[in-house]
Amino acid sequence: TRRIVVLISGSGSNLQAIIDACKTTDYPGEVVGVISNKAEVFGLTRAENANIPHQVLSHKAYDSRESYDQALVNAIDDYKPDLVVLAGFMRILTPVFVQHFSGKLLNIHPSLLPKYQGLNTHQRAIDANDKEHGVSVHFVTEELDGGPVILQAKVPIFPEDTADDLASRIHVQEHKIYPLVINWFCSGRVVMQGDKAVLDGVSLPTSGYA
Ligand code: GAR
Repeated sequence: TRRIVVLISGSGSNLQAIIDACKTTDYPGEVVGVISNKAEVFGLTRAENANIPHQVLSHKAYDSRESYDQALVNAIDDYKPDLVVLAGFMRILTPVFVQHFSGKLLNIHPSLLPKYQGLNTHQRAIDANDKEHGVSVHFVTEELDGGPVILQAKVPIFPEDTADDLASRIHVQEHKIYPLVINWFCSGRVVMQGDKAVLDGVSLPTSGYA
């Protein structure tokens, strides 16, 4: 089975979905390490409860983005991962980091990319009067939230929705599509080739299906 390292900054509900998926029969991956840039987040408790090695690597202890990312690369490499999964890891990564893990770095972003890169995606979708919203799993490249999309899920936006309502609706979908894409990756079914994601030999539309 493939070795997975998960990076988090918060509650880790996606981490939990991945841990749970890994426990199912014949799942092709296992979470071998969890790293958080923030102390005392619930995601660390989830790792602890699942007996998965976990650690805090605080960016506050480093004086530059580059030096933090180098420390992060070293910490991740210690787990000898086949795949690095960003699951609510709320930091912009340097080119050196991204290149080091090129082709084996996945992110989940709460919008229908290429729409709403960056933060506050739920409120922005509401403010724009969008009728639908969603979530994207993509390979990470140097372009922030710009790497090739592998899979998206859509949800409706209802008239009275708050950003929190949308976030919960999105979370339900995240917990399905992230373990699914990770399964594909660990089985060798999805790979990054150049700037494209290729699933079962077929190139996917680079910027998503939305
Ligand atoms: C998820 O909704 C994820 O899509 C989002 O953070 C949340 C983490 O939830 N990621 C980003 O916004 C990345 N820029 P979780 O900690 O419960 O998994």
